[in-house]
Amino acid sequence: MARASKQPPIREKSGNRPGEYLHVLISDARLHRRVRQLAHEIRRDFPKDALHLVGVLKGSIFLLADLARELRGEVSFDFIGVSSYGTGTSSTGAVKLTKDLDVNIESKTVLIVEDILDTGLTLKYIQRLFEERKPKHLRTIVLLDKPERRIADVKADYTGFAIPNEFVVGYGLDYDQRYRNLPGVCILRLSTRKSKTT
Ligand code: IMP
Ligand code: MG
Repeated sequence: MARASKQPPIREKSGNRPGEYLHVLISDARLHRRVRQLAHEIRRDFPKDALHLVGVLKGSIFLLADLARELRGEVSFDFIGVSSYGTGTSSTGAVKLTKDLDVNIESKTVLIVEDILDTGLTLKYIQRLFEERKPKHLRTIVLLDKPERRIADVKADYTGFAIPNEFVVGYGLDYDQRYRNLPGVCILRLSTRKSKTT
């Protein structure tokens, strides 16, 4: 006889379209606590510098907004657009610049703000591009890291949470542009199960 599992059941709830299921991986309260800690670490590392945050559109917007408000001292921000994922949950591998910076980063202390480090191809591309522009310091913060998926040799200086190899949405992260507005980070599971008709 199979032993009853002591693991609590995974609480899964329906997403906003049929066949899409979500369960919370990181609550909004945990996210906010971690972002506050990271803001303190960053300020400790650069106590005097004006920090120029560069958000990678669009997944980083909530991290950037929360981080900017937790950072003391002088802060400015800008955004860059890159496309790496087409649609759905799998990468095409190609990275393309879709929106460049508005402000020159030469001699600035720049913090790249990214939602998730997956294969690392996007971040590698942005880091290379920015290095050529001669910032005073270049650092990277990512909210999430999926180390199992790494292809490019790239590291973030500040990481919110290392997570398992699951597709996640919420707090800026999307599935086909949807679910960015979830306050926490959720695992998204897609089901091809047919609904019962009998
Ligand atoms: P990378 O170039 O493979 O590291 O991919 C980075 C980009 O892919 C991120 O900025 C996200 O936009 C997207 N991405 C990777 N994993 C996920 C995920 O689990 N959910 C949503 N987007 C993801
Ligand atoms: Mg992204």
